[in-house]
Amino acid sequence: MSSLRLLAAIPFPFKPLRLFHGAQPLTVRPGHTAALHFPGFLLWCKVIVIAAGWLAASGEVIRMDSALPTTQSKSSETGASRRETVTITDNRTGKSYELPITHDTIRAMDLRQIKVHPEDFGLISYDPAYNNTASCISRITYIDGDKGILRYRGYSIEELAEKSTYLETAYLLLRGELPTAAQLKDWQYNVTHHTFIHESIKKFLDGFHYDAHPMGMVISTIAALSTFYNDAKDIFNEESRRKQTYRLVGKMPTIAAFAYRHTLGMPYVYPDNDLSYPGNFLNMLFRTSETRYRPNPTLERALDILFILHADHEQNCSTNTVRGVGSSHVDPYSATAAAIAALYGPLHGGANEEVVRMLHEIGSVQKVPEFIKRVKAGETKLMGFGHRVYKNYDPRARIIKRVAYEVFDLMGKNPLLEIALECERIALEDEYFVKRKLYPNVDFYTGLIYQSMGFPTTMFPVLFAIPRMSGWIAQWEELLLDAEQKIARPRQIYLGYDTRSYAPIEQRL
Ligand code: CMC
Repeated sequence: MSSLRLLAAIPFPFKPLRLFHGAQPLTVRPGHTAALHFPGFLLWCKVIVIAAGWLAASGEVIRMDSALPTTQSKSSETGASRRETVTITDNRTGKSYELPITHDTIRAMDLRQIKVHPEDFGLISYDPAYNNTASCISRITYIDGDKGILRYRGYSIEELAEKSTYLETAYLLLRGELPTAAQLKDWQYNVTHHTFIHESIKKFLDGFHYDAHPMGMVISTIAALSTFYNDAKDIFNEESRRKQTYRLVGKMPTIAAFAYRHTLGMPYVYPDNDLSYPGNFLNMLFRTSETRYRPNPTLERALDILFILHADHEQNCSTNTVRGVGSSHVDPYSATAAAIAALYGPLHGGANEEVVRMLHEIGSVQKVPEFIKRVKAGETKLMGFGHRVYKNYDPRARIIKRVAYEVFDLMGKNPLLEIALECERIALEDEYFVKRKLYPNVDFYTGLIYQSMGFPTTMFPVLFAIPRMSGWIAQWEELLLDAEQKIARPRQIYLGYDTRSYAPIEQRL
């Protein structure tokens, strides 16, 4: 290949590339020394830059033809002559490889061809926490973290929060389109008629200690549902998947409310099929001696909006979990129970609980600067701030702030609000947060709303899990129907001992 042709093969300036890993979130392989590995994109970008010196690339360029599917490709502003490839030169051998780029992504498996000896395993990439790795192709949720954009199936979160209901949004996520009036009626009917739970589940819940965390109860109860519905194992049967979807979306509020009532030692309240999805949830939580519970319309709508905002968020920790566990072809109850467990953590859905604890700990507006000092010194985190993807204001947080005021108008202002606003004011001006692009995320204000609505802090992550169920199922189903996906199985870089001989116990020091 002439050096001119090679020059054309290297796009410049370089755009950030992602690695695409099919079913396998990025991995690393055994039996290699660290020196032979490229720790992430930056290092192998360096390899490309070295290749730009051309001279090392005097050898042959090996082309790989494994581009990603190009349906829904972004329109290219580039000229026709520009090739959508990247050329990597392996300086160990002087060989160059031309890899296809699709959607600003190369396939990680294309790296496998790069080897010194034919018997080598081939190059792999290292990306702890998947900072720069796409593990799937998805058509459900779109986020532009720099611009603060969130869309479900192409519809902006702002428009859905204003005009839609949670159940309609859940249908959109699951089926890909907004329902017609007849489809929505049918969907609402089916979800509503799957809200009741087997009486044995009540006995199961009764076994929990009075102060058990409701998330622990919900995780276990959703997992237990797999023992009640053996038909759920038929995961490649569309009819079966649909039935489990009605059950999971329908029963989540019932299980959540029963877990809450259990912690209070109060009798369980059965679903009222005449109420809306959030209205019925409020009924099961808060009904006492009324013959008919009538939810407050402001609180009912506020909860519905919060459910819409939490319904899906592409490949976050819990969604990656539902896909990872689901890739073993287990039933959806087991897979979504694992996702709820992932959500429980304080860095994910448990953050809303931590925000309220933090605001209590700060105690007053006057003490905010002192707390921010501790955050900047690395002693603690400002919970409800920061996001892996959003490097701008989380669009959900903006909507939530508005909803918060509607709830406060009805229920009275939450005394923690002033502390939260002061934290936000200082953080948005402070260099530490500005430099790191740390903005309030979805969890910063939700806790204050939930608290004003009368929920104990332990219920906050449960309120996140209820609506996320529809997103998890949509992602699980997309995984199952994706012919490229396989069981998720990362690789590793093994840096432990080489072979050692077993020493009898009396010879060990
Ligand atoms: N307070 C103080 N510093 C922070 C915070 C925070 N909340 N978040 C990130 N940083 C710092 C972090 O220490 C690091 O600083 P440096 O570069 O000096 O080491 C830098 O910002 C980058 O952070 P990171 O930890 O590399 O970012 P990440 O993408 O790995 O983590 C996160 C994202 C959400 C886990 C993190 O921002 C965090 O722990 N936030 C607090 C918990 C929280 O609010 N979680 C809810 C997330 S939104 C809802 C959801 O999806 O679950």
